[in-house]
Amino acid sequence: MQSWIPLVPESASTFSWQVDALYFYLSGVTLFFALLISAVLIFFVIRYRRRTPYEIPRPIAGSHKLETIWTIIPFLIAMTMFAWGARVYFTQYKTPADAVEVYVVGKQWMWKLQHATGQREINQLHVPVGRKIKLIMTSEDVIHDFFVPAFRTKADVVPGKYTTLWFEATTPGTYHLFCAEYCGMNHSGMIGSVIVMEPREFDNWLGGNTGTTTPAAAGQQLFQTLGCASCHGANGEGGRGPTLAGVFGSETTLQTGEKVRVDEAYVRESILNPQAKIVAGFGPIMPTFQGQISEDQLVQLVAFIKSLPAGGQTQTPSASPAAPKK
Ligand code: CUA
Repeated sequence: MQSWIPLVPESASTFSWQVDALYFYLSGVTLFFALLISAVLIFFVIRYRRRTPYEIPRPIAGSHKLETIWTIIPFLIAMTMFAWGARVYFTQYKTPADAVEVYVVGKQWMWKLQHATGQREINQLHVPVGRKIKLIMTSEDVIHDFFVPAFRTKADVVPGKYTTLWFEATTPGTYHLFCAEYCGMNHSGMIGSVIVMEPREFDNWLGGNTGTTTPAAAGQQLFQTLGCASCHGANGEGGRGPTLAGVFGSETTLQTGEKVRVDEAYVRESILNPQAKIVAGFGPIMPTFQGQISEDQLVQLVAFIKSLPAGGQTQTPSASPAAPKK
């Protein structure tokens, strides 16, 4: 599946053609001016060469008209690049709300992935064609970078925080996955593949990997064993910490009066550094879990809290934790 220009990797996501179009535009403009300037340069060298040994050129006082023109035209061209680039950027980095979530943990030197339905993969990611996929990514050690050239997208995977990436694959096939950030000795070996399948094939693949615990269910277990439930009761009991039912995705007010959105990053921070952003009405009594739980476990806790429905009924996140149950 090579493209007709062998220099360009195959194109297999909904926005890859936009990146290509912009890239060709940038290359085209650059090439045009490089040729124009070179041609004019050569022409002037010949046309205005010194013809007699003591020839003195006619003095030039300058021209406002000319200067205005050669300021405004490049400015307009630069602005087209800016506006176009911004549009492509926002398409790529604003994740659609209806995307299916996959958790990614990078470590020296492998990619660990887990689907919301529990299936785990290493250095391989199976996805269905025509469905939006959102990757929630973090690293166990150093900075890595999740890069799929065929989808024209990449994002840094940074220790201590979550970054996200989304794509919708358009063509079934197997595509390269690279680490695009030098991360130590075996950086070049930190590779894998994204396998894009027809939806039915994908469902079969998912079905063939049963018996796995979903991240949300594993998170619920952890929530019990770590003793979180004694303060953050699912039904609002406990009382020493805010109830977590239905808070994910909402806005909460802090002691300082500030408002924050409860997203992956906030939940993560509150587990590792509970004193950073305390919810209004509660004291700074939660211990930190820094160093006590792994990135995988953090992801599971986040998935569990995400799966809690509003209202605080007893929750059993088993099959599809991504969709809050009513
Ligand atoms: Cu991981 Cu380079």
